[in-house]
Amino acid sequence: MTDEKIIWDENYSVFSRKIDEQHQKLFNLINSLADQKEDMCAKDYARLLSKLTDYLIVHFETEIDYLKEIGYPKLAQHLAEHRRFIYVISNYNFCYKNSSVIDVQNVYLFLKRWLINHELGADMDYKQFLLKKMNGM
Ligand SMILES: [Fe+2]
Ligand SMILES: [Fe+2]
Repeated sequence: MTDEKIIWDENYSVFSRKIDEQHQKLFNLINSLADQKEDMCAKDYARLLSKLTDYLIVHFETEIDYLKEIGYPKLAQHLAEHRRFIYVISNYNFCYKNSSVIDVQNVYLFLKRWLINHELGADMDYKQFLLKKMNGM
């Protein structure tokens, strides 16, 4: 498996300083997971994962407020993607708490894939909407 870093750059800006900062922090958190996962025990790793998940939940709230503010027409769809993610990650947490066995590599891969797909897919879609709106289209 390749552990390429996810690097945020201005092309990913969604014209909200707060959200841009959150996206950068999320990318940094996922990168630090990649750096540390070889030397960590499952418990520490699970703690880091839950930190990332908590941060994502805060980010989702900020983002949904922003989407309402800009009048994004696919708000419900976007919200559903966030909710689906929370559901999957809660299942991972549940499994971890109940069996103490966690496949960290699997969880990491899921998080990374989801983050890349969502942040560079669905999030860029609302950016495009905003760009058109700003240009009066
Ligand atoms: Fe986002
Ligand atoms: Fe989002």
